[in-house]
Amino acid sequence: MSLTTFQPGGNVGTAIIKELLKDTNNNTPLTITALTRPTSPYTPPPNTPITHRTVDYTSPASLVSAFTGQDAVVNCVTGSATQFSSSKLIIDAAVAAGVKVFFANEFVSHMESEQYRRLPEAYVGAKVRIRGYLTELGGEGKIGWMSLNGGPFLDMCESSGRVYSMRCWTGLGSC
Ligand SMILES: NC(=O)c1ccc[n+]([C@@H]2O[C@H](COP(=O)([O-])OP(=O)(O)OC[C@H]3O[C@@H](n4cnc5c(N)ncnc54)[C@H](OP(=O)(O)O)[C@@H]3O)[C@@H](O)[C@H]2O)c1
Repeated sequence: MSLTTFQPGGNVGTAIIKELLKDTNNNTPLTITALTRPTSPYTPPPNTPITHRTVDYTSPASLVSAFTGQDAVVNCVTGSATQFSSSKLIIDAAVAAGVKVFFANEFVSHMESEQYRRLPEAYVGAKVRIRGYLTELGGEGKIGWMSLNGGPFLDMCESSGRVYSMRCWTGLGSC
């Protein structure tokens, strides 16, 4: 299985990669590509099967080229950069490249609650609208998607071994 992680060097990206690298029970070897901006100081952890590539987030052609051949894309961009038009560009490129599953950049509280939905996009990013768009694409059979809503400070909980009340959302329902 080939998987691309967007912004692998942040709080959440680092925690996800750490867990992925532990996945030794999988019969199919996991290939991980770490995608960053050209200006990123990111370097993959030593002695790991991670390929680092840079990509122009504003260029559909650059994104499609980076996603081609990948089964899944995990988006871990920082919250303040999670706006609708820039995220749509990334999602549309994943669809065009034939990616099967898009892991949305939510990593946040219960997004279907009224309390969350009334928070301004300027404060929490456009995660609700982005989920709406993914739901639409999923309904049309263009791409599968999932996300994780574990509440705030997910990376800190993961690193201390304490993760409470985690919810995973997919187009098929929640678990
Ligand atoms: N950390 C938590 O505990 C926590 C809690 C609640 C929610 N979340 C959510 O989890 C997601 C990831 O958050 P995080 O804390 O892991 O992010 P982060 O560590 O703040 O940033 C992740 C990466 O985003 C890139 N980045 C920074 N500014 C950018 C910009 N303007 N445009 C594009 N990329 C930019 C940087 O990568 P490069 O410099 O390598 O390019 C950075 O390493 C967000 O949706 C956030 O809201 C996280």
